[in-house]
Amino acid sequence: MRRSTVIGTGFYVPPDIWTNEDMAKLMDTSDEWIQERTGIKQRHIAEEGIGCADLAKVAAEQAIADAGMTNQDIDMIIFATLIPDVFFPGSACVLQSKMPFGTIPALDIRQQCTGFIYAMAIADRFIRTGWCDNILVVGSEVHSAGLDFTTRGRDVAVLFGDGAGAVVMVSTENENEGVLDFTLHAEGEHYDKLLIPAPYGYVRGRITHEMIDNAEHYPKMDGRAVFRHAVPRFCECISEVLEKTGYSIEDVDLFIPHQANDRITNMVGERMGLPAEKVVSNIASYGNTTAATIPICICESRQDGRLKKDSLLLLAAFGSGFTWASLLMRWSI
Ligand code: COA
Repeated sequence: MRRSTVIGTGFYVPPDIWTNEDMAKLMDTSDEWIQERTGIKQRHIAEEGIGCADLAKVAAEQAIADAGMTNQDIDMIIFATLIPDVFFPGSACVLQSKMPFGTIPALDIRQQCTGFIYAMAIADRFIRTGWCDNILVVGSEVHSAGLDFTTRGRDVAVLFGDGAGAVVMVSTENENEGVLDFTLHAEGEHYDKLLIPAPYGYVRGRITHEMIDNAEHYPKMDGRAVFRHAVPRFCECISEVLEKTGYSIEDVDLFIPHQANDRITNMVGERMGLPAEKVVSNIASYGNTTAATIPICICESRQDGRLKKDSLLLLAAFGSGFTWASLLMRWSI
């Protein structure tokens, strides 16, 4: 039976690093507060003028080369981002303007922290049905372009960082590799618990001076609500994908959770009975890079040898929307 698998990966983070001490120079915060509550020590920040398609280009080039392919082999781009380069069109099209792909379809996914799993799931279904053979799946964010780096925005600004990751998903007939199954969920009644309100789609002109004065163009988050919902939703969707595929948690070789907060990661690992050595955490170095987090973790886990051919890899994420998702796959490279 035709299924999909990953044969190439890449990631890129901009070179500038802002430590917690650097953040404390901009706002009333401290290394101790940030580390204790989140595990974050530093984040990478893009220069002004660099957008998410610029970071994505570097990650995509690596992933395509790693797959032993050229751009001409790719027959669809799926781009997950929370911060598209422009209000419209999507960043998949902006990426096409920077890399020659011909006229292949270019699709944006706006599922925030869950975006990369939604994107992989969509790629899997396009491949399984035979509509595509080789899909470039990218997650990229330049959060720093839209964070309030003053004390007013400190509850959100300290959490996020910039970066990009990409994978190339291809068709395979091999039953012992690739995506086994996934779960996708959303509960839109909580859409206002983590959002950027402006620009508005229902206000003439989309943005007013008053909205800017009220900082409505910056993210707003009910951090406690996010925390409260995240842990049970992570656990539910992990159990669901294991049940769908007939595997148990003991079978999982590596768990890559979306990196929102080390406390969430640790609680999920403990509740699911996963030993710490099977749970990936890189939030200390990057902060929360939203749609880029999972592919960055995949690349680093390949580099450090934790993710290898035949590993049973579990991915799970929770984020704004609220949305949450999981995916189980047999890694094939
Ligand atoms: N530095 C110092 N103090 C800060 C701060 C910062 N960066 N941000 C907020 N504070 C202050 C608050 O103003 C508050 O002060 P007060 O008690 O005088 O009112 C105090 O710290 C506690 O704030 P609170 O929001 O209750 O902290 P918390 O323990 O809930 O931790 C989060 C805040 C954001 C770290 C936590 O709620 C969290 O991790 N939530 C999940 C967020 C997340 O993962 N988002 C991404 C989703 S994918």
